[in-house]
Amino acid sequence: GIVVSSLLKDTGLVTVDPGFMNTASCESSITYIDGDAGILRYRGYPIDQLADGSGFLEVAYLLIYGELPSPSELDAFTERVNRHTLVHEDFRTFMGTFPRNAHPMAVLASAVNALSTFYPESLDPADDEQVDLATVLLLAKTRTITSYLHRRRVGEPLLYPDYSRGYVEDFLRMTFATPYEAYEADPVIVDALEKLLVLHADHEQNCSTSTVRVVGSSNATLYASVAAGVNALSGPAHGGANEAVLTMLEKIRSGGETVETFMEKVKNKQDGVRLMGFGHRVYKSYDPRAAIVKKSADEVLDKLGAKDELLDIARGLEEIALSDDYFVERKLYPNVDFYTGLIYKAMGFEPAMFTPLFALGRMPGWIAQWREMIKDPQTKIGRPRQVYTGATERPYVPANQR
Ligand code: ACO
Repeated sequence: GIVVSSLLKDTGLVTVDPGFMNTASCESSITYIDGDAGILRYRGYPIDQLADGSGFLEVAYLLIYGELPSPSELDAFTERVNRHTLVHEDFRTFMGTFPRNAHPMAVLASAVNALSTFYPESLDPADDEQVDLATVLLLAKTRTITSYLHRRRVGEPLLYPDYSRGYVEDFLRMTFATPYEAYEADPVIVDALEKLLVLHADHEQNCSTSTVRVVGSSNATLYASVAAGVNALSGPAHGGANEAVLTMLEKIRSGGETVETFMEKVKNKQDGVRLMGFGHRVYKSYDPRAAIVKKSADEVLDKLGAKDELLDIARGLEEIALSDDYFVERKLYPNVDFYTGLIYKAMGFEPAMFTPLFALGRMPGWIAQWREMIKDPQTKIGRPRQVYTGATERPYVPANQR
């Protein structure tokens, strides 16, 4: 709990802090987390109030520009995002060249990176107008790309946007409508996805956001930095956990295993098995996002009449974890990923799409953090030190003597 703000020049003193458990990489005024009290706020606003009261683009505006938008500011912002929803035909061709069964996170990272090649007028980190354009382009195109990721896997063509609909409603339509079957999203589903995107929108200096900042600290473009963030998010210890949770639940079901025997494996660290969707570097109490997601899972599954045996397994695992010494002592609680997969599945997304949905939600946070970093006079190129443990100097051995 002690903060030592060090603006010291190179002193020769090096601290070793694997995983940056105790090292702040920056000062930031975007997101506040109190991990012991289970508090999360964006720009000072409590997450539950934002999830209840604000849409995703409104929260994106808040994170990026620092204030909640007035109705006219939100209209102008939404209109600007809408205007950039379509992708260039060549870009579509590019996305269509990946194998159909490629993991969508790899395609998403490549696509975000490739955007920079189509919009050279939005690349200069020092030009505010260009940065604003890149901001809007990323929010707009990521939605189109994400819906395309699903459509390509199921062999459907990309659909044109319908600007009369909201960001989330039209995302669902562009994802699930077919040329022969309209898709009208149930308002409960739109509301649930809107909430999920809001809950994922930022989470201060997590692995992917720190990656975005480090890459950007070299003055790489917003696209290059965010593409690196997408890759960081793909790992199962980070955003990939939402897909891993579902894989775990399905394995328990299909293996005919009981939740009790599975939990014994976790506690014995058998084969390195972890309870996916549990534990967090910062939250040492219930993740406030997980509480909201859990309620939402009940509502969505109820509404869709999609009684899911996997939800019962998830509840069973949580029940054991909350009263078991192993989890209690280590302060392991469900994180945001534990129940999200079940909601996405009920909505019609396959597991490989779960992490791209996380990326769609996190986009405003990555952008806001990159913009803050670029403007911060304290920013220096990210370049940690190391403690060398290899050989001391030794004589070179020519190839014929090895
Ligand atoms: N299941 C079982 N044991 C766990 C779990 C888990 N999910 N998470 C941590 N532990 C145990 C560790 O084995 C360790 O026990 P030990 O002291 O006996 O060795 C102790 O708890 C501390 O764990 P660390 O790995 O040191 O904690 P860290 O802060 O480095 O890791 C992390 C946090 C990566 C999230 C971890 O809890 C984890 O792997 N969870 C599962 C994956 C997951 O859900 N990730 C999503 C995170 S949230 C997000 O990205 C949106």
